[in-house]
Amino acid sequence: MSAAAYALITGASSGIGECFAKALAVRGQNLVLAARSGDKLEKLAAELRSAHGVLAEVVVVDLSESGAAGRLVEEIKRRGLRIDLLVNNAAFGARGEFWTLPLDTQMRMLRLNVEAVVELSYRLLPSMAGRRGGGVIHVSSTAGFQPVPYTSVYAAAKAFITSFSMALREELREHGVRVVTLCPGGTRTNFFVAGNYGTRSLPGGLQPPEEVVAAALEALDRGGGLAVPRALNKLSIFVQRFLPRARVARIAGNMFRPR
Ligand SMILES: NC(=O)c1ccc[n+]([C@@H]2O[C@H](COP(=O)([O-])OP(=O)(O)OC[C@H]3O[C@@H](n4cnc5c(N)ncnc54)[C@H](OP(=O)(O)O)[C@@H]3O)[C@@H](O)[C@H]2O)c1
Repeated sequence: MSAAAYALITGASSGIGECFAKALAVRGQNLVLAARSGDKLEKLAAELRSAHGVLAEVVVVDLSESGAAGRLVEEIKRRGLRIDLLVNNAAFGARGEFWTLPLDTQMRMLRLNVEAVVELSYRLLPSMAGRRGGGVIHVSSTAGFQPVPYTSVYAAAKAFITSFSMALREELREHGVRVVTLCPGGTRTNFFVAGNYGTRSLPGGLQPPEEVVAAALEALDRGGGLAVPRALNKLSIFVQRFLPRARVARIAGNMFRPR
């Protein structure tokens, strides 16, 4: 008998990741929930097991540590779990002038937002391709569509994720693995607090994370692709194609300059 299939969600303890866990549990999907806050993950796992009858495992991990993604996959293997859906969601964004933010914070951000995403994809995709099934959802951001001064490393990391994810989609198309590149704009989560973004208002306000997750799952059901939730986000990405990139960077800098 083949092992039960699970979705691995990184950053499942709050925000968009927690919403993914809830939405997938409603679909009867078994879950592996990963993040640093074990208490929150255990509470969520218990709630989802009892509400939806799914299997839910918790792995406490700090994915900004070198080698942590590999240890997470080893732990999943040790427990005999089969991952059919990978939701690469965990990330944080530091804000401020690049050269005054602590280097260690920015290097941790790169390890979490980029390195862990690449390593988890690398380690989990071959078995999906071998079975000609499964999927990956990369949670990128509208921040990846242009340079964003005062959150330069975060935006560059998201540009990497968007490019990486869209390229993987083409490679994996013929292997039956669906790849979604999810690019939300401002979303109502802990991110703006945790990422030190303050409470300044963004055009259109913050979107509920449930809508963002619904857009990703619709794209997954359609077979993968780029999902940019909200018309305003789509419009701003479209419009900037007609402006010089330097001008776009200047506008973004004016929007994100700390006040
Ligand atoms: N909110 C937005 O406006 C927005 C817009 C575009 C894209 N996004 C993207 O959406 C994704 C989710 O963010 P969110 O808005 O839901 O933010 P959030 O509420 O702050 O959630 C971030 C999640 O990542 C986990 N995490 C943070 N550092 C971690 C680490 N070192 N190791 C393991 N897990 C870690 C956190 O859990 P622990 O603290 O328990 O580890 C938490 O579960 C991110 O990729 C973000 O870039 C957000």
